[in-house]
Amino acid sequence: MKLDFHTHGKLAKRLPFSTQYTDWLFDEAKNAGLDALCLTEHFNTLQFDELYGYLTYKSKREGDTLLLENGLRIFPGMETDIAEGGHVLTLGTVETIMELNQRLAPHKVPGNFLSFEKLMDLFREFDVLVGAAHPYRTGGHIPELPLEQLSRLDFLDLNGKDAAENRERTEQSTYALGKQLKKPVVGGSDTHQAAQYGCIYTDFDKDILTIPELYRQMRAGHYQIIISEKAPFQVKTACVLKRSLKEIRALGGDYVEVLLGNGKDKNTVPSLNECIAATHKTIVIDYAPKAKQMAERIEEAANEMVLKGFELVSVTTTPSAKGILVFKKVRTSKNTF
Ligand SMILES: [Fe+2]
Repeated sequence: MKLDFHTHGKLAKRLPFSTQYTDWLFDEAKNAGLDALCLTEHFNTLQFDELYGYLTYKSKREGDTLLLENGLRIFPGMETDIAEGGHVLTLGTVETIMELNQRLAPHKVPGNFLSFEKLMDLFREFDVLVGAAHPYRTGGHIPELPLEQLSRLDFLDLNGKDAAENRERTEQSTYALGKQLKKPVVGGSDTHQAAQYGCIYTDFDKDILTIPELYRQMRAGHYQIIISEKAPFQVKTACVLKRSLKEIRALGGDYVEVLLGNGKDKNTVPSLNECIAATHKTIVIDYAPKAKQMAERIEEAANEMVLKGFELVSVTTTPSAKGILVFKKVRTSKNTF
């Protein structure tokens, strides 16, 4: 099971939730070869509840995961700021994640963030996995926390965005901390953008459906982290696209419409098969014991098709006395076939 441990379902935390954008992201995640992802949405993103409400409605529950129609499995999660500077990832059932998000309501703006210790006190009341997100990113201070606090973590995030910028430094520092704390290190892309999926993922030996099983497999080390050689390009492309889409929004445009075209770009140039299907129609007339009845049925079908803009071009009668009628679309100034 190819799992991305750190992803987002919105373009940015201050932008409204868009079902179209989120659907596009999850389709792209699947197209990138992922089987599953941890949706570690920012705890203070706009419409956190609505995002998870939509996903719950759109998916089928399997164990602790939400299985989407396209086959992508989602482990619900959240990314939370701490007062010291830095982010913490939490994974649990959708109910637990939404409950925790509610409990954190008074602590969602800078100045009110909980300290690592207080946040862990809250998280440890629930059955969740807790990890340090991108522990060595500039501005974060998680590695400087007391060891007795760090030992309360369950895992560390080898972050795709950081690895793309400086793979050697990110790997060395994150693995060293993992070794010191005796905690598993797993890979997450930290993407808000489709281009970044697959830059890093954690490949487990088998499919996993529950949080306890996920933790067992992590502890047992039954996985390997894969970092794409294209990771720097993917992250750079994702950053440029994210910045551009945010700028479109800031200028009053609809970034989702610009990105997806809302179907406007689709099918403007039909394929050959689509052209053939659109220009010719075939109708089979059922068996009629008498020639007159057969002729009446052919006439009836032909008249119906004329009203739809088609003309009869051939009639074939088979040995089983069925009639095969082929029609062709009549050329008009409105259709160019
Ligand atoms: Fe993140």
